[in-house]
Amino acid sequence: MNILGIETSCDETSASIVRDDLRVLSNVIQSQIDLHERYGGVVPELASRRHIVSIIPTIDLALEQAGVTLDEVGAVGVTEGPGLAGSLLVGINVAKTLALSRGLPLIPVNHLEGHIYANWLTLGDAEPQKPPVFPLVCLVVSGGHTELLLMRDHGNYEMLGRTIDDAAGEAFDKGARILGLGFPGGPAIQKAAAGGRTGQHPLPRAWLGETYDFSFSGLKTALLRLAEQYHRPRPARSRTTTDEPFRPYEPIRYGPNVPVNDIAADYQDAIVEVLVEKTARAALEHGAKMVLLAGGVAANDLLRRRLTGAVDVPLRYPPIQLCTDNAAMIAGAAHFIYRRGDRGDLGLDIQPQLPLTSGTTITS
Ligand code: KG4
Ligand code: ZN
Repeated sequence: MNILGIETSCDETSASIVRDDLRVLSNVIQSQIDLHERYGGVVPELASRRHIVSIIPTIDLALEQAGVTLDEVGAVGVTEGPGLAGSLLVGINVAKTLALSRGLPLIPVNHLEGHIYANWLTLGDAEPQKPPVFPLVCLVVSGGHTELLLMRDHGNYEMLGRTIDDAAGEAFDKGARILGLGFPGGPAIQKAAAGGRTGQHPLPRAWLGETYDFSFSGLKTALLRLAEQYHRPRPARSRTTTDEPFRPYEPIRYGPNVPVNDIAADYQDAIVEVLVEKTARAALEHGAKMVLLAGGVAANDLLRRRLTGAVDVPLRYPPIQLCTDNAAMIAGAAHFIYRRGDRGDLGLDIQPQLPLTSGTTITS
């Protein structure tokens, strides 16, 4: 059976067809970066408006690229939360309309569960890997979430720790903003750091004792203090008004000879070190047979390399295009949720704050 996945929780409009052997037949992702980058972050109102314009052509393209007609789709999986309310609404309403008009089962998917299940997917013509084995420890690191989970089975999540302030991706985004590196911040910091040396600007790590919790706001403030030494005053703001509904982001101005690459390298190192140390310790303590990375920050090269060296069990992470937001991960998770018998109905509504809770144990 083919599942059509729909993802509109933030600033990517995405639709995908995933077969029941978890092979991704298509995964169309319409990024909105061009729309938001001038504001230095996602503007929710603009995001939802763009989703409305993009969603139908995106679904059409996903069907076309998969070589599948709507008649060959067996169920519709859609992100119900967490995410931006106005953005989620677009995906949910399209999914409900399709389910009603085609008589298809509707499968609501938690966005974080989608990120985790990206690790079970096979892209295009790639050789399928063996599925992850339980118990496993999974680090979910995205723009809005940093959660360390123990999974003893499918759909079974024990929260070991989480961020008490900023998410790891948010730390990358805010750090890049402070350093004037652009949006989204993760890839920008990774690129700048590749040309820099660590150890030049020691930055703090919040260990929070023996817990598996994380904190990145102190690190962000330390970066701000460090960067301030190099700031140039802004020119006086012009009083002319524009017809722009939102004020564009004004990058911080730096004088010459700012060691941006070195600072980015130390900043990335500070984020990654804590993520790696806590994940490796959790894997050992809980006898994990495997460690998974999930979410946009799982695309980070340093995190992947360091964690590979830090754990004694196999490490699995999705290919880059399945780390950041995409609908294939939603369709993939929907296959597992469908098998455990959970269905949505036409009363399905958005859940912007939806937590990750355990579903019924399923057999795969
Ligand atoms: O999962 P995602 O696409 O969206 C959310 O659900 O939030 O994650 C986006 C986050 C952003 O904060 C972005 O800066 C970060 O993932 N990210 C990275 C990298 N690529 C994306 N962070 C570090 N290194 C990367 N290479
Ligand atoms: Zn995400």
